[in-house]
Amino acid sequence: MIKNICCIGAGYVGGPTMAVIAQKCPHIKVTVVDLNEKRISAWNDKDVNNIPIYEPGLSNVVAEARGRNLFFSTEVDKAIDEADMIFISVNTPTKTYGVGKGMAADLKYIELCARQIARVSKTDKIVVEKSTLPVRTAQAIKDILEHTGNGVNFQILSNPEFLAEGTAIEDLFAPDRVLIGGDVTLEGQKAIQALVDIYANWVPKDRILTTNVWSSELSKLTANAFLAQRVSSINALSELCEKTGADVNEVARAIGMDSRIGSKFLKSSVGFGGSCFQKDILNLVYIAKSYGLNEVADYWEQVIIMNDHQKRRFAKNIIKTLYNTVSGKKIAFLGWAFKKDTNDTRESAAIYVADDLLSEQATIAVFDPKVEEDQIQFDLNYLETRSEEANNKGVQVASSAYDACKNAHAIAVLTEWDEFKTYDWQKIYDNMLKPAFVFDGRNILDKQALEKIGFVYQGIGSR
Ligand code: UDX
Ligand code: ADP
Repeated sequence: MIKNICCIGAGYVGGPTMAVIAQKCPHIKVTVVDLNEKRISAWNDKDVNNIPIYEPGLSNVVAEARGRNLFFSTEVDKAIDEADMIFISVNTPTKTYGVGKGMAADLKYIELCARQIARVSKTDKIVVEKSTLPVRTAQAIKDILEHTGNGVNFQILSNPEFLAEGTAIEDLFAPDRVLIGGDVTLEGQKAIQALVDIYANWVPKDRILTTNVWSSELSKLTANAFLAQRVSSINALSELCEKTGADVNEVARAIGMDSRIGSKFLKSSVGFGGSCFQKDILNLVYIAKSYGLNEVADYWEQVIIMNDHQKRRFAKNIIKTLYNTVSGKKIAFLGWAFKKDTNDTRESAAIYVADDLLSEQATIAVFDPKVEEDQIQFDLNYLETRSEEANNKGVQVASSAYDACKNAHAIAVLTEWDEFKTYDWQKIYDNMLKPAFVFDGRNILDKQALEKIGFVYQGIGSR
């Protein structure tokens, strides 16, 4: 029976997942390690509200388990040495260099972890890949562990994460399914059972699926590709709706009531973001291409092409509506996170819309309830479109939405934060330049109420 778990990587996946395992399994000691000292000290902050990840319900779980059987530490070697089971939850960004640049996953962090595990381990261990990884990564981890290890036996499992940010705790408490892939050998099956036993502490057995390693890895990419495809599909229709006078919200409702289609993931938006969708599809495309399956690759790549188009189209529409120039104009951004209820900004549509508007010499004033100023500047600088100085000059970060909108020509809603709906929109209108425009990239505001105040309102996918 597993008594000691180590998780390498205290990020959006490792942090919440381990907090929930620790809360649900008080008999298991769970240590989450990370190289990033600042992140670990934030996880250990006396005030649980200061933990580095904003996720509804997470601070309560951490408050209950931390110090009891949940620990955060930078002592990676020690935690690896003590553990019977090691989760790898490090980041796997898209490669920014060399072969597969812009497509393949960069596995350098995973490889470093595998080498570290191989170097430190003195007893048998089950290694669980938790990060989103391309198919066949488990094999790479296995090769490293078997060839550089010290005679220790390793079993490698794939246990992809299906939690969505913003609802991570709900998703972890009551997952639709838990997927565990492992070897078909006797040892492989024993390792699978050890992980099944952990989840069985709170997840009904019929929701725990076991498969071979490749199926598990590929299922993760496929699930994200299907979800992203739905968003790109409805977004493709949003452009047609704008031209024809149909309303994409009405279309989504009508098709969503077909039980074969279902109502989820049909919200038209300025484009999907997040750390998974684009990365996973690019991985799928890269894998398909590497097997010479060009039609398969092209099919999935179109989901990304559509999403890029949707982001670009939103920025273009703002420019066109503001009389074909935004030079010197102030545009307020409500929201920077890639979705509500998270402080994560990876691949957020806001970054790309801001980048396009800055290239047109607009000034942007951002307000997001959970994202910090440094992160916003970091996201823009990462694109390397212009100097850091120019980004600093072009983007102000406001401490309230009211400040962001003061003397603005237009407002762009980039994240669907609930609080935006509760604002005093009359007050916002009174302090803006006229005509005052709202470009609702999330279709969350009340069009009729805003038009009554005097705003010129444009949502996505309707006139
Ligand atoms: C996703 C998967 O849902 C999750 O299972 C996986 O483990 C990780 O990737 P996440 O990226 O956290 O989760 O958020 P998700 O809720 O899937 O949203 C992704 C993006 O799509 C967001 O930018 C969201 O705003 C957008 N979206 C989602 C839409 O634009 N319309 C929709 O109808 C749904
Ligand atoms: P995710 O969304 O996949 O959780 P994050 O970037 O939020 O991604 O978290 C990944 C974490 O993994 C980061 O905090 C990073 O510092 C950590 N990390 C990466 N490589 C290593 C390593 N070799 N050892 C320990 N921690 C690592």
